[in-house]
Amino acid sequence: MQTDMQEYSSQIRRRRTFAIISHPDAGKTTLTEKLLLYGGAIQMAGSVRARRSQRQATSDWMELERQRGISITSTVLQFEFEGYVLNLLDTPGHQDFSEDTFRTLMAADSAVMLIDKAKGVEEQTRKLFHVCRRRGIPIFTFINKLDRPGRDPLDLLAELEDALGIQSTALNWPIGDGSDFRGVYDLASREVHLFERSEHGAQRASLRVTDLSDPALRELIGCRQHEQLREEIELLEAAGEPLDRERVSHGDLTPVYFGSALTNFGVELFLRSFIEMAPPPAPRMSDSGLVRPEDEEFRGFIFKVQANMDPRHRDRLAFLRIVSGKFERDMSVWHPRLGRTVRLTRPQKLFGQEREVAEEGYPGDIIGLTNPGVFTIGDTVCTGQPVRFRDFPHFPPEHFAVLRNTRVDRYKQFLKGIQQLSEEGVIQLFYERDAARREPIVGVVGRLQFDVVRYRLETEYGVETAMEDTPFRLARWLRTPPGDGHTILWTTGTKLVEDADGNAAALFNGDWYLNYMQEKNPGLELLETSRDLG
Ligand code: G4P
Repeated sequence: MQTDMQEYSSQIRRRRTFAIISHPDAGKTTLTEKLLLYGGAIQMAGSVRARRSQRQATSDWMELERQRGISITSTVLQFEFEGYVLNLLDTPGHQDFSEDTFRTLMAADSAVMLIDKAKGVEEQTRKLFHVCRRRGIPIFTFINKLDRPGRDPLDLLAELEDALGIQSTALNWPIGDGSDFRGVYDLASREVHLFERSEHGAQRASLRVTDLSDPALRELIGCRQHEQLREEIELLEAAGEPLDRERVSHGDLTPVYFGSALTNFGVELFLRSFIEMAPPPAPRMSDSGLVRPEDEEFRGFIFKVQANMDPRHRDRLAFLRIVSGKFERDMSVWHPRLGRTVRLTRPQKLFGQEREVAEEGYPGDIIGLTNPGVFTIGDTVCTGQPVRFRDFPHFPPEHFAVLRNTRVDRYKQFLKGIQQLSEEGVIQLFYERDAARREPIVGVVGRLQFDVVRYRLETEYGVETAMEDTPFRLARWLRTPPGDGHTILWTTGTKLVEDADGNAAALFNGDWYLNYMQEKNPGLELLETSRDLG
């Protein structure tokens, strides 16, 4: 028993569950591949270019992603490095898929913020940063593309503070820039890691290590670069923020690393420092108090649902993040939303597109559950005293279009498709109330999702569709539906609808129309999400 407990605690301590946040093109796919390379998870990390020509990636799997060259769906990659188990939650970089990313971030205990050295803090990074900041998780910054000309490193640190409001502490420092880039100086060990270009950075990049005072260094990098490096290091040591781990753990201070994912430079240095500093699985607040990873009872939550991940199996996978307790295959858990017990049969360990049966799992791990239709985003599963994790983010749709099935013989597949995509949280479905024809009005957060929905309906369900834009821009749920003596004065730019569960809601052409309706119906209670209905 004692040894079981020891084994259990050591399994928790060695886990790191994290996500990489960045603006598209900052190099997230490239960095992911390189991390996997160090983790021994893939033998050869092909360069992104080679990978694109093969139209295949280790961490991207959807056809549409490959066609468009963007990452729109997220998956999970688990690998080991020096005794640690790393769960990397891959997030879509495209802004139209922010909700999926936001939800995935709920499952992470820390984040790596990837920044392009030439571009600095970009829009999508800013958005995702704020989500992490609100959750108070530690954020580690990797400034990428050092092999290319970029901005002054001191400027970039200043920008982190000005644009994001976070103080930073550089753990290594670049020597030279672009074609003059020579390597990095590690502030803690006072070692210089010299950069050597290897072909496409496909193998682990070799490092030569000396020390800042080594006369050979001056010779190697030249007087000018040597002088500049010494000046900058002096400045950092005198005026920079000291590394305060307590502040890092609350997300108040971000450790900064410089490197180049493409050429593989600085990635291993980063990884070593990261595993040592990033937190093990964190406790989570539930409606019955804090749930700690060490708690004996099993507790977890669903942060993502995805249909047809594997075209060969056509199944629906719910992604479960374990918060406490040990997971075992075939275990029975309580499902508070449904108010019944569910047996977790055929649980899957995920690695991008690949799966294997998960025999066991520990806090921090992500398990794929195949129970069809049982789970939706935000569900809790548990053993023992029932609890619910509630603080799940909500994303109001901002674009609405009527979707029509154009082939009568595929109507059943059409209904199944839109229902499954709505369970995934990709779309929200509304139907005009009391209309003669029940045509779905599809609500999405980003417009590109319309393309994805239609594409997926076609490829996964064999359904062709036509789409008609509507002027609606927001939805609200009605606490009390009209009828039974309760009347509502319907104003212009407004439509009465019901959601997929039959709840009464209204669509509005914009804020002005919402306010107008509210003015005309002072007692009318309009709710931002159907969850607020109770
Ligand atoms: P993403 O997932 O964040 O969208 O970025 P991805 O890894 O796909 O990288 C975007 C581009 O940046 C890729 O170029 C990739 O090779 C390049 N890149 C990533 N890391 C580095 C780096 O450290 N140094 C340099 N020089 N480039 C890097 P691409 O789209 O294939 O081609 P191109 O845009 O360079 O022509």
